[in-house]
This record gives sequence, C-alpha cells and structure tokens, in this order.
Amino acid sequence: MHTNTNLENPVCTGPRNILISMKKIVIAIDGYSSCGKSTMAKDLAREIGYIYIDSGAMYRAVALYCLENGLISKGEIKEEELRKALESLEITFRKDPQTGLPQTYLNGTNVEKKIRTLEVSGQVSHVAALGFVREAMTRQQQAMGRQKGIVMDGRDIGTAVFPDAELKLFVTASDRIRAQRRYDELTAKGEPCSFEEILLNLQERDRIDTTRAVNPLRQAEDAIVLDNSHMSIEEQRKWLADEFRKATAE
Ligand code: CDP
Repeated sequence: MHTNTNLENPVCTGPRNILISMKKIVIAIDGYSSCGKSTMAKDLAREIGYIYIDSGAMYRAVALYCLENGLISKGEIKEEELRKALESLEITFRKDPQTGLPQTYLNGTNVEKKIRTLEVSGQVSHVAALGFVREAMTRQQQAMGRQKGIVMDGRDIGTAVFPDAELKLFVTASDRIRAQRRYDELTAKGEPCSFEEILLNLQERDRIDTTRAVNPLRQAEDAIVLDNSHMSIEEQRKWLADEFRKATAE
C-alpha cells in the first residue's frame, strides 16, 4: 500500500495571510460524519499554508476498490483478497490545477467523484472497521505528518494517528443538520438523493464508527469540542484561527 501527497504538486496552497506562524504543528480534526470537518480543515490548511489530508478519502478509496473488484459480495468483505490487494494499492492526493482543491487518486486514476457516492458511503465504515486496513492507513498517515505542518481530518486522528498532535479538535452537530448539509452538497453537485436515505446512512456510519473494536471514533481527552450546529462558516473560521494562534503561541 503506497500513499503519498504528491510533493511536486502538494495539496497546501502556501501561506495566504497573517495566520502563518514559524512553529509548525500537527492539527487533528475528528468528529461525526458530515459535520463539515473537511471544509473547515481544507480552509484552515489553505489559510496557514499547511498540507491538508482527508483521511476519510483514503478509507473511501479502499471501499471503492472493493466494490469495483468484487471484494464485497452480499455485504461480505473478502478479507484475505483485500489484505493482498492492499499491498499494491496506491492512494495519492493531487491538487486540481483549476480549482486548487485536493483530488483523490486510486492507482493513478482520479476517483474524487466516485468515492463520494452513497454506494461507497454505504460500505466504507465496514471496510474501515477492519484492523489490517486501519493499520495500513494509519502507517501512511503518520508518515505524511512526520514533517508537521499538516491538518488531517477523520475519526481517530487525535486518538490513534497523532496522539501527540499539538491541536486537537472534536467536531459535532445534530444529525438532522448534518444530513441537511450533505443533502445540500450533493444536490448542488446535481446528484439526485433523498434526505431520509442520507440521514439513515450517517446514523448507521456513526454507529459503526463509534462501536468498532479498533480505534473507534471518540473524543480525545485533550481535544477541544466544537458544536457547529448553529455556527456560520465565517464564525467557525474565526474560532479556528483563534485556536490555531493559541496553539502556536511560543
Ligand atoms: O465526509 P464524512 O464525514 O461523511 O466521512 P469521511 O470523512 O469521508 O469518512 C468516511 C468513513 O471512513 C467514515 O464514516 C469512517 O467509517 C471511515 N473513517 C475512519 O474510520 N477513520 C478515519 N480516520 C476517517 C474515516
């Protein structure tokens, strides 16, 4: 399993404003599904010139690989085949030159759109519950954060991937608000979807993510909680900038 952030074309876009500090840290953002973690992590990384890594995209890419290669049949994952396949699976991130947004590549193919479908959402938490899948992903994620200067979002970043991260955030919002945001996002992309189906999917993923045996989703003891149910993007951005300043104050 090879993952890199394509350093020739890194996801970070470079410092944009005064938020930049000399002290490079690791920022871990965890939380429930569809609570806006990735939007806030992406924005923050752009503001401060850090690399952004969407760890969920990596699990989604593995789930997509399973679906496209018959490794999931009737809800059962063919674990031994997946274990072998993982050795040669290559997940990389590259920046879209037009939009500047990070794109996920699986074995050299852009799968950004495919990994966001409800079909993948319906399988990803089962795939992500497998210990050997988590081990492979965690190893790659830790390698990406070795130089610091990284914002990573997911479910176990502050607890398992970077337990020593200098800034840990735990994001949450009510499930109906989260489902509405995901519904709006898919609708804006022109993808037909049903609110009820999205709500059920995120409730089910939260259930699996919080109850799995290996590195379940939970709040790290030293994480700062953000309930953004009633926060605008701008309020959230200010809050985040403040937390970043505090964490990097020498
Ligand atoms: O975008 P959303 O919050 O709905 O999910 P995601 O971040 O794309 O993650 C998709 C799924 O991958 C989650 O529901 C988890 O099952 C799994 N995941 C995980 O187990 N550990 C992570 N660090 C990130 C994601």
